[in-house]
Amino acid sequence: MPADFAKHTLTATYNDLAETRALVAANKGEIACIILEAIAGNMGCVAPKPGFLEGLRQLCNEEGIILIIDEVMTGFRVAFGGAQERYGVRGDLVCLGKIIGGGLPVGAFGGKREIMEKLSPEGGVYQAGTLSGNPLAMSAGIATLKLLKEEGFYARIEEKSAYFEKGMRQAATAAGVPTSLQRVGGMFCTYFQAEEVFNFADVKAETPKIFAKFFRTMLEEGINLAPSQYEAGFMSIAHSTADLDQTFEAAAKAFKAL
Ligand SMILES: Cc1ncc(COP(=O)(O)O)c(C=O)c1O
Repeated sequence: MPADFAKHTLTATYNDLAETRALVAANKGEIACIILEAIAGNMGCVAPKPGFLEGLRQLCNEEGIILIIDEVMTGFRVAFGGAQERYGVRGDLVCLGKIIGGGLPVGAFGGKREIMEKLSPEGGVYQAGTLSGNPLAMSAGIATLKLLKEEGFYARIEEKSAYFEKGMRQAATAAGVPTSLQRVGGMFCTYFQAEEVFNFADVKAETPKIFAKFFRTMLEEGINLAPSQYEAGFMSIAHSTADLDQTFEAAAKAFKAL
């Protein structure tokens, strides 16, 4: 990230409403928007503390700041309406990706009429791209959303994810490896430390190193996890009980090997 770009951005600690409030107060009238992942998936899987999202919403309302919720990971995953539905907090703008493309490359954003009207042809902001509205990606996305709307889809994902969480916890406990398994719906992360993670700084220096060893054994056992402690894992409706049981067997070995 070039320093010339970064200088326009302030960084606040996830889940720390007081710090965000202080940053806004110190830069009164200067903040255009606050953007965040409602559930932080790019540091593993960190849920918002009760009141954090509500507090950001209130702060944005008070200060005339646009709240942008990045639901690229969480959108259509933790609920049909994403993290916003799950936590009952609405952004002014939302960005989406991944699931809405049904496996094809896509990105989307939307939000309040008064903001979207700023885009051409109604407004003066021109937004376009070679693959914008690409018919193949749109068709795959629409087909996927139809499947997600089937009765009981999210209950089935929750059931599989809870089963996975229980199996992984049991494997870790049996091997005596301290872990903090954090999960929201079909998003999860096993941190290799006993302490719960509420923000990036809570991840201890040795934690990713332990993960790296675990990852390698899992791979040798035929289970291909995302290769970083800071990646969220995702449950798919296609994962069978047999797949999950196989994962627990591999995890039992990988935890023991630590
Ligand atoms: C939460 C989140 N936002 C944004 C992005 C970036 O999306 P893209 O790769 O489409 O630019 C990612 C990528 O994985 C992501 O996880």
